[in-house]
Amino acid sequence: MNPITQLLLSIQFIGLPATLRIISATLLRDWYEHRFRAPSPATAPQSPGDLLNAETTPRGGRFTFANAELEIHFLTPHLVRISWSPGQPPLPYAIAKTEWPAVNISVHETGAGGYTLASGGLTLTVLADGGIVYRAGEGDPLRAEHPPRWEGAAWTQGARLDTGERIHGLGERAAPLNLRETSPHGNTAPQGESITYQMRNTDPGGHYVPGDDPLYLNIPLYISRTGRGSYLIFYENTHQGEFSFGEEASTVAFKGGMPRYYFTSGTVAEVVERYTELTGRAPLPPRWALGYHQCRWGYKSAQDVREVVAGFREHNLPLDAIHLDIDYMDGYRVFTVDEERFPDLAALTAELKEDGIHTVTILDPGVKVDPNYDLYREGVERGLFCTTPNGKPIKAQVWPGMCHFPDFTNPETREWWGEQYAELLAMGVDGFWHDMNEPAAFVGWGNPSLPSITRYSMENRLTLSKSICHCEERSVRRGSLPVNNRAAKSGRLPHPQKTGVRNDMRLMNHTENQGGNHTEANNIYGLMMNQAGYEGLRKLTPPHRPWILSRAGWAGMQRYAWNWTGDVGGSWDTLRQTLITMLNIGLSGIPYTGSDIGGFGGHPSAELFTRWFQMAAFTPFFRGHSATGTPRREPWVYGEPYTSIIRDFLNLRRRLMPYLYTLAEEAAQTGAPLMRPLFWHYPEMADVDDQFMLGDSLLVAPVLSEGAKCRRVTLPPGVWHDWWDESIYEGESVVEVAVGLERIPVFVRGGRELGVAR
Ligand code: GLC
Repeated sequence: MNPITQLLLSIQFIGLPATLRIISATLLRDWYEHRFRAPSPATAPQSPGDLLNAETTPRGGRFTFANAELEIHFLTPHLVRISWSPGQPPLPYAIAKTEWPAVNISVHETGAGGYTLASGGLTLTVLADGGIVYRAGEGDPLRAEHPPRWEGAAWTQGARLDTGERIHGLGERAAPLNLRETSPHGNTAPQGESITYQMRNTDPGGHYVPGDDPLYLNIPLYISRTGRGSYLIFYENTHQGEFSFGEEASTVAFKGGMPRYYFTSGTVAEVVERYTELTGRAPLPPRWALGYHQCRWGYKSAQDVREVVAGFREHNLPLDAIHLDIDYMDGYRVFTVDEERFPDLAALTAELKEDGIHTVTILDPGVKVDPNYDLYREGVERGLFCTTPNGKPIKAQVWPGMCHFPDFTNPETREWWGEQYAELLAMGVDGFWHDMNEPAAFVGWGNPSLPSITRYSMENRLTLSKSICHCEERSVRRGSLPVNNRAAKSGRLPHPQKTGVRNDMRLMNHTENQGGNHTEANNIYGLMMNQAGYEGLRKLTPPHRPWILSRAGWAGMQRYAWNWTGDVGGSWDTLRQTLITMLNIGLSGIPYTGSDIGGFGGHPSAELFTRWFQMAAFTPFFRGHSATGTPRREPWVYGEPYTSIIRDFLNLRRRLMPYLYTLAEEAAQTGAPLMRPLFWHYPEMADVDDQFMLGDSLLVAPVLSEGAKCRRVTLPPGVWHDWWDESIYEGESVVEVAVGLERIPVFVRGGRELGVAR
């Protein structure tokens, strides 16, 4: 967004005085950047160079090149980890599973000076220049990648792309389902150029639209679907970076960290299952979380909340949860309650619970700089905030004014933060909504987050270094057999010092507590806040299941939190986009997502609101939410016939609960997202991006255009039963279905048991 629009939007939302404060905060940010800028020494680009030595390890092999070292490490026959040094190894923020059963790997020399490593599930060929070719079993090549190239700490790597290869994932994207396609609303790549996606969790500010990039939740993984099969590649690198997809090649670039990534091939369901075995799965949520949530930025008092709930009662509309946005807090101070507007929150939540309604409160990470505020004082005294390079807590502007930001990479901060939920829990709050955790900062120009020089402790680094060190050394002792020591043959010794390789994998020469900066920690800020909240709640509320909703996150966030798609604009275009965005989020390992019904801002027409509501009734997270200052839009606001239609969909959602809960169990067991693109179950079909499967038995075709009286629905092979009447359709067909305002096409797959009365 250009700076002028950014400024105008900020004036519209928060007024002129606050905007002036933002300008001064931005000047402070620029001063930080200037004051602490570290000169980056000029370095020549470097590639691995010649392969000098190869050794087997119990799980693969280690390859020494003139300027780099490559380790291939099979976790299972179908999942392999590739690590290149030089480069700082990642902290294991994403990783949930570290113990894997043994695998049998056979290693052979190829004729051309390379090696193949075969596990039964995968065959990798390491080429003499460091390129790697991946095959499923012994099949045709699925992926051919070039060796990485370094420039200082930054690195890039390319891989070949087929013309018809389709790419999905990367977390939250306002982009087509196939990320190689150009969006009709900008982000179009001129012919011969690439489409680029940023890897930098960012609050786009205001309301985003198709084509805007980056957004709040980036996950450095993509699924590629080629004519020869599918694969998933996950880059375990928290640094800011970018992914580009061109006509013939893909490129990834990260600003630092070791090139480390995981590869697996199989069906789309299988690769997501393997990826979530590695990074963890979403635990079963409390049942109420699958119901309908009502929210609005603008329920300013207990009285407002009671009136909204009375509206639901009066219109006979089921409600499972109500969310309190920032107005419940005292001056937007996190973990406080405004005693005037919410004089007895405990009484309010108890009253709501009698009606079966659960209360969720928002929590933002920014802690107001205010000497009279306990949390601020404690955080400063105990050194729990992110700092400048000279150790002072960093400051940036958010809702409460100037704030400090908890350093969630510090375990002590996480523990401290986790304890803070106790008071709200004691007041009967059941769920927590983590917002602004990219982290977002209000700025007049430039990156709307913390300054790049912000320091984080990244505390586990040393612990991890030791454990990896130990494990790698052990593997060398146990199984290292030189397969072919070409260097020895030629009389050169492949000694790290001689080859100039800084062998991070074995030696890990880190400085104690060297920490990291915002370039490295930006993307994990939300993940770590979610971890802090989740672990705190696990301690505070056994045996209850914690429930957290989060705007930002990273690989592995599914272990702790659900997601929603943030401040999406309210239009027919964004409705269509939101469906696709949610599908790509699901393919990125996050099974629970949803959107603000009608879009966050603006004033959706009654028709748009109703159509969005109908789609949302089939999405994992089902919440009405809107921005302050917009016209109200509780489900009855548009009057009849809309209220009755919405009531029907609320009741339908209730009927779907057993099915949804079964899908939740499936997500917990296999990582499968609740809503899936059709190709998840029908890979042989042409891609469809305006329909989705809810589980394997329901096909949903939301109405995405204004004034539609009928819509075309693509039915996969099999028999399909119309949800609404007795019609039965033969699949492998495109049918034209009437879509009066009261319904959207929904079909039940023949022969499936939904456990739900229709
Ligand atoms: C952010 C959130 C939005 C929330 C608002 C006020 O814009 O994305 O959902 O209502 O902040 O807290």
